[in-house]
Amino acid sequence: MASLGSNLESIRRTFAKHGQEHVFDFWDQLDASGQQRLFDQLSQLAPNLPAWIEGRKRAIDGLSKVQNSRLELVPVEVLPEFGGDAEIRDSAREAGEALLAAGRVGLLVVAGGQGTRLGFEGPKGAFPVGPVSDRSLFGLQAQKIRGLSRRLGRSVSWYVMTSPATDFETRALFRAENFFGLDPSDVMFFSQAQVPCCDFEGNLILEAPDTLAESPNGHGGSLLALVESGALDDMARRGIDRIFYYQVDNPLIRIADPVLMGLHELQGSEMSCKVVRKRDPDEKVGVVARVDGQIGIVEYTEIQEPEKSQTDEAGQLVFWPGNIAIHAFSTDFVRRVAEEADALLPYHASAKKILQVNSQGQTVAPSEPNGYKLERFVFDALPGAAHVSVLEVRPKEEFAPIKNAKGKDSPASVRGELDRQYRAWLQDADISVPAGIKVIEIDHAHVDSAEEAKALGIDRLEEATSMIRGSTGMRV
Ligand code: UTP
Repeated sequence: MASLGSNLESIRRTFAKHGQEHVFDFWDQLDASGQQRLFDQLSQLAPNLPAWIEGRKRAIDGLSKVQNSRLELVPVEVLPEFGGDAEIRDSAREAGEALLAAGRVGLLVVAGGQGTRLGFEGPKGAFPVGPVSDRSLFGLQAQKIRGLSRRLGRSVSWYVMTSPATDFETRALFRAENFFGLDPSDVMFFSQAQVPCCDFEGNLILEAPDTLAESPNGHGGSLLALVESGALDDMARRGIDRIFYYQVDNPLIRIADPVLMGLHELQGSEMSCKVVRKRDPDEKVGVVARVDGQIGIVEYTEIQEPEKSQTDEAGQLVFWPGNIAIHAFSTDFVRRVAEEADALLPYHASAKKILQVNSQGQTVAPSEPNGYKLERFVFDALPGAAHVSVLEVRPKEEFAPIKNAKGKDSPASVRGELDRQYRAWLQDADISVPAGIKVIEIDHAHVDSAEEAKALGIDRLEEATSMIRGSTGMRV
């Protein structure tokens, strides 16, 4: 806690110099603890205020910039059904399995987002996604990690990035669930930083008379937080030098996919991406491409015609590789990006509804967006990588994120995708499902693929123990 006294005047001058003196509007009405709270927040921000001012200026200017970038295709390791080389995948899988067996891969889940579109009270990772048991997204991922550890015969370290908005509840959930059967010493929590929001003129916002409005600094903040929290040092101590990165909201995630990790390794990459085939020009996924000569992502809001809808002779989109936010990183690269974060990971502005005080000092929830949240994006690190591997995967097998409360990418659609995957595994394994069973759920700690279902050596769902459960009730 910084002490007020003469520091107060210097802080006031700093904010006034940058046209932000309004943050003191309610100072005289605050009690001592309120003054201390605001002072602490402002004195932390003060040394970074010029960088924040510059960062938010670039972010806001970026909104009106017309992207006229030259796009070129990047090499992609495509699926065998589209002409890819199955042998390359096999060698990649072997190399990835060797990395995993040697304990060189750490898992990073980014779980600091506010999940505003879903509108769920609590961290998104706590969302009940199990079609039968209501197990949470974290719980389902923990089962997958237990399955992975079982196959490898060793533990795998899981780094869980939270934010001040999700940290407390995330840790409490893990404790309440006994770490979902994982060894607590293999689960590390660390929090990303917050960044102040700004109004449409670029000014700081008071959300309460003694508090600036802030929000988590985006999934790109994970690369800084890994360094600042000491998580990267922890990885080094454990002999981890490769990171499997994924988002908390995708229950189909193939955790630590050896094919991605191995391709990254064999090709000497610093950062790698999984992509899916975009079929419709309006699909809301960013495209991995060479942008003005450098590999990067063109966001769906930025890709312009003619490239957006350009097709080849077969009628397929030319710029088809859609980014699904599953990456591999080398830890040296993460350290380098974090050191140059302001250059490599610029802020992006998005208009949001942000709590704000009115002239009487009362906090008001606006009905329309009233300012910008600022976020760093993890994929902005791509152009800084000496080499990038891009691997095509099948969305039905690996990608079904929960984003919205209803419709596309909603809990109902994602539970449907999980049920569909489970039924496909059982069908491949010749395990029959009684007609009355409406939904199925499989415990990934025991069965994590069609092959593992087959290895159970059973013919009927009823023979499976609690590893595979069916329910006659239909979830909504
Ligand atoms: P999204 O950008 O989809 O955000 O995050 P969200 O918080 O889940 O949902 P909305 O946009 O508010 O509706 C994709 C992934 O990145 C993480 C999220 O937790 C999710 O796993 N993320 C996002 C962070 O960890 N920190 C952030 O600051 C933003």
